[in-house]
Amino acid sequence: MTQLGIDLGTSGVKALLIDDNQRILAAKTAPLGVSRLHQGWSEQTPADWVDAVSDAVGRIAAEHPAEMSAVRGIGLSGQMHGATLLDKADRVLRPAILWNDTRCGAEATVLDADPLFRSVSGNIVFPGFTAPKLVWIRNHEPDIFGRVSKVLLPKDYLRLWLTGEHVSDMSDSAGTGWLDTGARKWSRPLLSACGMTEDQMPRLVEGTEVSGTLRRDLAQEWGMGPGVVVAGGGGDNAASAIGMGTVKSGSAFVSLGTSGVLFAANDSYKPNPASAVHAFCHALPDTWHQMGVMLSATDSLNWFANLTGTAAAKLASDLGNELRRPSPVTFLPYISGERTPHNSASVRGLFAGLGHESGRTELTQALFEGVAFAFRDMFAAIRTTGTTIERATAIGGGSRSVYWLKAIATALGIPIDVPEEGDYGAAFGAARLALIAADGCIPADVCSSPPVALTIDPVESLLPAYEEAYERFRALYPAA
Ligand code: XUL
Repeated sequence: MTQLGIDLGTSGVKALLIDDNQRILAAKTAPLGVSRLHQGWSEQTPADWVDAVSDAVGRIAAEHPAEMSAVRGIGLSGQMHGATLLDKADRVLRPAILWNDTRCGAEATVLDADPLFRSVSGNIVFPGFTAPKLVWIRNHEPDIFGRVSKVLLPKDYLRLWLTGEHVSDMSDSAGTGWLDTGARKWSRPLLSACGMTEDQMPRLVEGTEVSGTLRRDLAQEWGMGPGVVVAGGGGDNAASAIGMGTVKSGSAFVSLGTSGVLFAANDSYKPNPASAVHAFCHALPDTWHQMGVMLSATDSLNWFANLTGTAAAKLASDLGNELRRPSPVTFLPYISGERTPHNSASVRGLFAGLGHESGRTELTQALFEGVAFAFRDMFAAIRTTGTTIERATAIGGGSRSVYWLKAIATALGIPIDVPEEGDYGAAFGAARLALIAADGCIPADVCSSPPVALTIDPVESLLPAYEEAYERFRALYPAA
């Protein structure tokens, strides 16, 4: 038997097929673009998500018909927080507003000033979350607001297309701002503070539960049998944690994707909104997690790559693998604002300390260090909640740079484990959730950690210099 995992990322969709032994049989990706109509805006068209999934899954189906006919379950993972608005007939009312869209800073501030939000949801109402997006719609597009019959998160819009059901899972729903995160249910008072009702929200299931059955026509198109179940799945960070085996308290990962995430698994609910650390449900029942989120990790590198007309991989390889003394140039990576620890939609990035000698390589080095120091800020924020991270595993596209990981290990003062070559990300985690939902496997048996290929230790001789550079980084925030 086989299982399919689908991750709806910001820059593309990934579909991945595993067998019962969790061997990857096939993986395909399809790219997605982001539309930025105005400063701070970030939108996608839900129909493009469907097309990208059809493309990626269709190519797996064409190349692996026998394995596709053995699929029993599909797991979904996706970029979190996005608002997909549907009318009564499930028609999309406007482009989806994404997690890194900061237009609703003012609405988020107003909601966050109501103490109920922090106490019930366990989180600051960040501008990236779903709740302030709906208030922005109410204030700026009242006609559309009046026609909203359902609000779905991005991956749950895919689920609607796959199964015809309006369902979400706990980990993704915790990022809306409307979940009672400790009780794992929608909060009517929080919804009503935004002029919303519970019937506008999808039904909730755990990530490991069955949420529906694949539509017959799609099953036929992909060469699958009847009765393929779709698991609850998870937000992309929780799904990645399932893929990496980051499920027990004490385990953590560093994710260098478009956003940067420092993720810690918790066996109990540990909210601490004042620290700007997120406290969300995990994708396994009765477990939670914390995370620090920075909005622009590889996004900063990609911005610089565009600016210099040099591929990101080339920028990274030009630095070599040997960690250098910290650059006299300091980079603050707030090109789309920041969440942990600053919670500011309006802050912007900067390069400081430029000289005639500051060339492309020096600025790349400063950029890597700036992101590493932003991780240090998140590490410190998580520590104030009483959670200690003693080591972390690296994931995400940026973790291919050994230099970047050495900078992060040295900034945090902890070892970073690099898994063996393989695909342990969100799509793999989603396929694992499908395996649990479809075959009733025990989560602890399924969610093992990948073998470690390499451990990157902090560079002892550079610790004092990094400490000094981190202080310079922190001191620059008021200027930004
Ligand atoms: C998490 C967050 C991002 C997105 C990226 O809170 O906003 O990590 O999930 O896809």
